[in-house]
Amino acid sequence: MKYYLSPSILSADFAHLGDDIAATEKGGTQYLHYDVMDGMFVPSISFGMPVLKSVRKITDLVLDVHLMIEDPDRYIDEFVKSGADIITVHYEACKDVEKTIQMIREKGVKVGVTIKPKTPLSVLEPLLDKVDMILLMTVEPGFGGQAYIPESTDKIRALRKMLNDRGLTTDIEVDGGIKKDNLEMVLDAGANVIVAGSAIFKDDIEKNTRDFMEILKKR
Ligand code: DX5
Ligand code: ZN
Repeated sequence: MKYYLSPSILSADFAHLGDDIAATEKGGTQYLHYDVMDGMFVPSISFGMPVLKSVRKITDLVLDVHLMIEDPDRYIDEFVKSGADIITVHYEACKDVEKTIQMIREKGVKVGVTIKPKTPLSVLEPLLDKVDMILLMTVEPGFGGQAYIPESTDKIRALRKMLNDRGLTTDIEVDGGIKKDNLEMVLDAGANVIVAGSAIFKDDIEKNTRDFMEILKKR
């Protein structure tokens, strides 16, 4: 299993976004997590395609786009054209999630599906072999800087078992409230793609990134 860090730029300083991203690159990250919020599926609004285009120009990192938007089909094409490498959609936001997954795949990028903390794993059953990554939200989507929901750990473990039982090595990404002090716990449970926002984009961004990467590299 390969392990990846995906710093969420939602917690970056947008007036110095290029510098903040460069610091995560120097720290050794492989992915960059890009949270799109529409003010409908989640209460807040973040950023969309134009910012992604600018980010694409300054980095070769894998751009891991998390769409927290209603009916994401409307924007898949534009996010692909703007530079997304992986597009993850919410099960709860899609009219026909299998169709959306297919649409993303046809564009030639990787596809992920995600569920909110209260959505049961059972909804993922028919999708397990159709996606490259499953994102488990470990906070209610909408804001950075929230506390990790403790029940998430059992959910990660149960999902890894569901995948193993089917002979699948699909990536499990976790998002929300991940810090250095609960990182080992989510890795032990079976997560291998780690989103961290507020834990990375504060004080010394390069050092924070390196600290996370050191733990991941030991796996
Ligand atoms: C929340 C977003 C997260 C967020 C994580 O809706 O999906 O990616 O930026 O931030 P932290 O790591 O601060 O919980
Ligand atoms: Zn996210």
